[in-house]
Amino acid sequence: MSIHITAPEGSIAPVVLMPGDPLRAKLIATEFLADAALVSSTRNIFYYTGLYKGHRISVGASGMGCPSIGIYSYELYSNYDVQHIIRIGTCGAYHSNLRLFDIINVAKSASESTFAKEAWGFAEEVMLPQGNAYAIINETAAARQQAVLDTSVHTSDYFYRANPELPAIAAAHQCAVVEMESFALFANARYLGKSAACLLTVSDIIPTQQKISPDQREQSLLPMIELALESAIR
Ligand code: ADE
Repeated sequence: MSIHITAPEGSIAPVVLMPGDPLRAKLIATEFLADAALVSSTRNIFYYTGLYKGHRISVGASGMGCPSIGIYSYELYSNYDVQHIIRIGTCGAYHSNLRLFDIINVAKSASESTFAKEAWGFAEEVMLPQGNAYAIINETAAARQQAVLDTSVHTSDYFYRANPELPAIAAAHQCAVVEMESFALFANARYLGKSAACLLTVSDIIPTQQKISPDQREQSLLPMIELALESAIR
């Protein structure tokens, strides 16, 4: 047990898929895992462990933002001996040359967040995927002939803001999309010597205000979820 996860010792697999939304974790467990067991539901942040094509994996939520994924990923790595975390989330595109449903394997995350510096003394404003998870995802996508974009991402601390201009950090690092978690995940993995990657599906195009509709959301994330599952067992 850890402070925020009450799964019994040994009940979480070494590989964890991590959506932001607890109900998405439940959906993945129900639709894709055999013998899925709910191992933690503290604060309604669900963690499940089951079998995907005979391989034991876990799926559980991060919540939203760096503070939240910072807590869950830290406890998984430190208290449950998790080796690999693949975040599976959505992002907004800063440019209309990206399309809804495009899938991104995050190549680097730039952030105005103080998380990495204050938690671990990493002064850089860019954090990279850690270990082999990023390369495995690219290999898996190539083997499946699935298109995946290698993109720099802005991990923002702000979903709502007054200034409509492209944030300076996103401009400085040519970030094509924005999400809110990968920077803290990569910082934790770096500090703890673990593996972390992040897959994102484009859910909104900011300049045109196009959005995946709530009805499309579940179906539209399936290609990314399948890629994450196939990468997790590679
Ligand atoms: N995740 C999905 N869309 C987003 C946006 N526009 N900003 C931040 N995070 C997001």
